[in-house]
Amino acid sequence: MTPADEEHPPPTPGVNATPPSCFEAPPAQVPLPTSPRRCEPGKVYLVGAGPGAADLITVRGLHLLESADVVVHDALVDPALYQHLGAERIDVGKRSGDHTLPQDEICEILIRLAREGRRVVRLKGGDPFVLGRGSEEALALREAGIRCEVVPGVSSALAVPALGGIPVTHRGVADAFCVVSGHPRDLDDAFTLPRYRERLTVVVLMGVRTAGLWAMELLARGWPSETPLAFVVWGGRPEQRVVRTALGDVAGRGPDDIQAIGVAAPAVAVIGSVAALSAAERSPAG
Ligand SMILES: C[S@@+](CC[C@H](N)C(=O)[O-])C[C@H]1O[C@@H](n2cnc3c(N)ncnc32)[C@H](O)[C@@H]1O
Repeated sequence: MTPADEEHPPPTPGVNATPPSCFEAPPAQVPLPTSPRRCEPGKVYLVGAGPGAADLITVRGLHLLESADVVVHDALVDPALYQHLGAERIDVGKRSGDHTLPQDEICEILIRLAREGRRVVRLKGGDPFVLGRGSEEALALREAGIRCEVVPGVSSALAVPALGGIPVTHRGVADAFCVVSGHPRDLDDAFTLPRYRERLTVVVLMGVRTAGLWAMELLARGWPSETPLAFVVWGGRPEQRVVRTALGDVAGRGPDDIQAIGVAAPAVAVIGSVAALSAAERSPAG
């Protein structure tokens, strides 16, 4: 007998052996894997709304949203997700250069609502833990002794390129990718950009205003000036567009030049050979 046979010995002929548990008949009522989750009072759910189109939220996120009694949301979240709900809505949305609420005030609001025993959904664009400060909110809640659950979302870092027909990896073309912020916290900070490596894709979020700068930094790190660069603007929305150019054509340009080629925030920039691909039909906007 092999070791595998020892674990599952064959039934003795003629003996009505009990089948292994994995072959047991399912109970009459099998809960669906998507059976609705409901929010609990006094708890904060950090829910990723996905990018652009409202129907890119996860099933779990949608169920929790529908059972919340207060929704604290960001600017890039499609209002179609929460407008029809009876829940109270608090807009703490921020766009670059137009901060409506400082981060610590957002945390204070979440803590207060949870202490009041409300069912709180903190709805954030994309995935809460990708360049979105969701982890700061989760830690602040934890420090305050508030229960907090994270519901991952479809991040714009991967989904917006895909919505624009650009795969971040493609056999023989790119086998790795990295996601960086194009918005350094402090003007003295260097961008966190990789040195040139064949078959690497770089995805830049929050990088429209600073495109001329990070493109120059990439050239300085050995990236060829003819490297394809694509901007996918308003991914998933009816106004979605893909602007294709090359790294050398953007390096050193100011925000007005970037705008002149049709690029405006929000956009995801994709740098590398895959940025020249157009692999899929455009998805219908949600
Ligand atoms: C503060 S970051 C938040 C990212 C988010 N946590 C995520 O996982 O998608 C915001 C940036 O995401 C990108 N972004 C989000 N939604 C987008 C969309 N629908 N179309 C294009 N870019 C988008 C833009 O680069 C924008 O500046």
